Amino acid sequence: MPYTVPPNRDWSERDLSVIWHPCTQMKEHEQYPLLPIVKGEGVYLVDDKGRRYIDAVSSWWVNIFGHGRSEIRAAIKQQVDQLEHVIFAGCSNIPAIELAEKLVQVTPAPLNRVFYADCGSAAVEVALKMSFQYWQNQGQPQRRRFIALQNGYHGETVGALSVGDVALYKETFGPLLFDTIMAPSPDSFNREAGESWYDYSLRQAQALEQLLAQHAHEVCGFILEPLVQCAGNMRMYHPIYLQKAREYCDRYNVHLIFDEIAVGFGRTGTLFACEQAQVVPDFMCVSKGITGGFLPLAAVLTSESIYQAFYDEYASLKGFLHSHSYTGNPIACAAGVATLKLFEEQPVLQNNQALIAKMRQVSERFLDHPNVADVRQTGMILAIEMIKDKANKTPFDWRERRGIRVYQHALTQGALLRPLGNVIYFMPPYVITEDEIERLAQIAWDGLNIAVKD
Ligand SMILES: Cc1ncc(COP(=O)(O)O)c(C=O)c1O
Repeated sequence: MPYTVPPNRDWSERDLSVIWHPCTQMKEHEQYPLLPIVKGEGVYLVDDKGRRYIDAVSSWWVNIFGHGRSEIRAAIKQQVDQLEHVIFAGCSNIPAIELAEKLVQVTPAPLNRVFYADCGSAAVEVALKMSFQYWQNQGQPQRRRFIALQNGYHGETVGALSVGDVALYKETFGPLLFDTIMAPSPDSFNREAGESWYDYSLRQAQALEQLLAQHAHEVCGFILEPLVQCAGNMRMYHPIYLQKAREYCDRYNVHLIFDEIAVGFGRTGTLFACEQAQVVPDFMCVSKGITGGFLPLAAVLTSESIYQAFYDEYASLKGFLHSHSYTGNPIACAAGVATLKLFEEQPVLQNNQALIAKMRQVSERFLDHPNVADVRQTGMILAIEMIKDKANKTPFDWRERRGIRVYQHALTQGALLRPLGNVIYFMPPYVITEDEIERLAQIAWDGLNIAVKD
């Protein structure tokens, strides 16, 4: 059905540039106007002219059930009438408790304590600080550093950037960041010809062990995204790396911190990525999909033994030192409860298997394209990496902005596909249909052919 813009939503008179947008060179919008979105309906976003776009990136990977999902919307409406917010020190609230109980149920044991934050970066800060303070409380103040993976991304606050490895941010903010030990990534893209994902991940795990052997005495924890380095160009690796990481972190008595912010809640095919390795971290950060894209919320799960290291008399100063004004917001938590109920009550992961298979099938035609270096998939993430010269593995210079050509083409065809550098990817809502995946693939194919032309 065509969408009619309500009169009070007419954008033609509005100055869109009053806002400074994130991760955006605002000058670019002289050339590429901002897209005024007025409505979301399932897998579609609708602009002010009534044009519809398949949201192929789940709006920065949060709208896992698409837009306007009725169950989540209804839960929010109900909560708004009951209690919008209450201070989370000294008071608690029902949706926050209910969501924490559900998170404990759906994550692997022994993760049974939940600390809330309000965005992914804040959850990463919480996990880092909790790990750091744990060692202080244990009388090991010499443990002050973290190990992280090359090519990793954990958000954009100062602590999260310090454990990230995005060159652009490091160049700009380097002097502000704390010093992190970087372990080589198990990213399968870099494996030798003929080497399997498994073998390469195993090989890279040996480098991790060496770093731990050398530095464990000064290290609090090792942080990584399980299975897919999402903002790191959707680079993927084998679950064996997670098993080895657990083994080595145990051996050297260092915390293992999983950032499941992007990969959690079904994105990799299982509810959490760590399930595919049958590995349980000491801290697990979740966010993004947790409210189905309705409201900002995050949580860090940890175990009883870590919780107990903070549990003492007030005067011992062992209590965890961290708070956010909106911690445990009841409306956001009610959205979280409704989102988790969808996983409980509907065969979401089972249904996704057909979508995963369809994504695999449509990706096949890209394999032999002369400007495609790699086609990779983990669950509901499909990535197609463009390359200038396949034989010599010469990438396109990022300044050429090949990805934006794909983006522009896709918009004209009714899809929001937003490549990461030279990587076209699909990370669609779980309500996408097989026909829509087919359409996306055709749009991506045409966009790729436009993008690689000189
Ligand atoms: C793996 C990962 N960690 C952390 C973050 C930061 O989350 P937020 O943008 O909500 O701060 C992101 C965001 O993309 C992410 O992908």
